[in-house]
Amino acid sequence: MVSSILRCVDCQTEYAFEKNLYTCPTCGGLLDVVHDLAAWKGRAEELRHLFNERMRSWKAVDRSGVWRYRELIAPGIDEKLIVTRGEGNTTLYDATDALSLYVGVNRLQLKHEGENPTGSFKDRGMSPGVTRARQMGATAVICASTGNTSASMASFASLAGLRALILFPEGKVAVGKVAQSIAYGAVSVQVRGDFDAALELVREASDKLPIYMLNSINPFRLEGQKTIIIEMMHQRNWQVPDWIVVPGGNLGNSAAFGKALLEMQEIGLIDRLPRVAVIQAEGAAPFAKAFEHEFDHFEPVRAETVATAIRIGNPASYKKAIRTVVKTHGWATSVSDQDIMDAKAQVDFAGIGCEPASAASVAGTKKLVEQGVIKPAEEVVCVLTGHVLKDPQVVIDYHGQNMPNVDAKFPNRMHTIYGTLDELVEFLPGNAAVRL
Ligand SMILES: Cc1ncc(COP(=O)(O)O)c(C=O)c1O
Ligand SMILES: [Zn+2]
Repeated sequence: MVSSILRCVDCQTEYAFEKNLYTCPTCGGLLDVVHDLAAWKGRAEELRHLFNERMRSWKAVDRSGVWRYRELIAPGIDEKLIVTRGEGNTTLYDATDALSLYVGVNRLQLKHEGENPTGSFKDRGMSPGVTRARQMGATAVICASTGNTSASMASFASLAGLRALILFPEGKVAVGKVAQSIAYGAVSVQVRGDFDAALELVREASDKLPIYMLNSINPFRLEGQKTIIIEMMHQRNWQVPDWIVVPGGNLGNSAAFGKALLEMQEIGLIDRLPRVAVIQAEGAAPFAKAFEHEFDHFEPVRAETVATAIRIGNPASYKKAIRTVVKTHGWATSVSDQDIMDAKAQVDFAGIGCEPASAASVAGTKKLVEQGVIKPAEEVVCVLTGHVLKDPQVVIDYHGQNMPNVDAKFPNRMHTIYGTLDELVEFLPGNAAVRL
């Protein structure tokens, strides 16, 4: 028996959980999946124990870093319907001294969502999204994507036996992501336009064609993405950091994080809220701009940035993300492509690695420390959203100092030798002009 409902974030109209809706039929607003959490109030210890027990289980739904927390994601779900690849379970790294020094905070952690099965956080939302598609009897699923959503959807759809139809903005998707979508067997289509145009087409298609839409407007995706935060708190033994810093593109994560935090606080799993800072790329920063004037109006932009995953000018989850920033007394700002790429080089040099969009969280933390918003003694968790191998071309271009608008501060160039020992000696520590 499911006690959850769908509720519009604008007009508050409520709809039955079983209704196949993405947005509010009354006003077009975004929907929340609202769970009846009253039964868990005051029972946080019991819930923590349950989550700990599941860490020791070999059952697929217990091993999954999404479904382990199913009381907060899809209470009462019929477990037989769940489509899972054991997503989540990502490492929460302590930053190296060098990285902490670069950013300017003493206690920095990195939650690496690039360690998911398809290499990005998207798997956390796609597992419940495709599960819901199956529940709704869908035979085909569709999304517009800057690459990671499509890679994830392609994988989970194939696993569930569904046809996947993917719309990319032409020529603006990192090669690792296009390759994944094709490899997993999705029908992959380039649209002559940007991501925002592709998303418009998907919305129309899901209204008029018999196909289930899996962009993050779909509230079931965001339920899964909440577990980035729930799992991170679990790893920290429910000790709340001062800040969580996340890159912002379509703002699905920013939206999901606020919802997760408020629900965890309601139940008593955490005793206070951290502040959530959303970091956008300078050329794709409508949310950060709106934050500057306290969200009194919103203007979409034509987006441009080297961080293709967040090259989004009209973010779908804008209103839900406002809720996160307002309720957590958070922040929003933007960083240049130069800052993103230099921060990425530092994350990569730490041996951790990430794709460009992910490094926005690290670049943004550094900027907020310099501005005095984040204090050096505060505890910060940066979310890294995607794997270093998603965008190999940008790594080669940065370190080869071959990027039009970025002057690499930390190039690690490739060397060529004839093959003598004398030449090799030059590369030993303390010798030639190599990076270390
Ligand atoms: C690697 C990566 N980082 C960040 C984002 C932006 O996430 P959101 O749309 O939830 O703001 C995306 C979205 O595609 C992504 O793929
Ligand atoms: Zn409404």
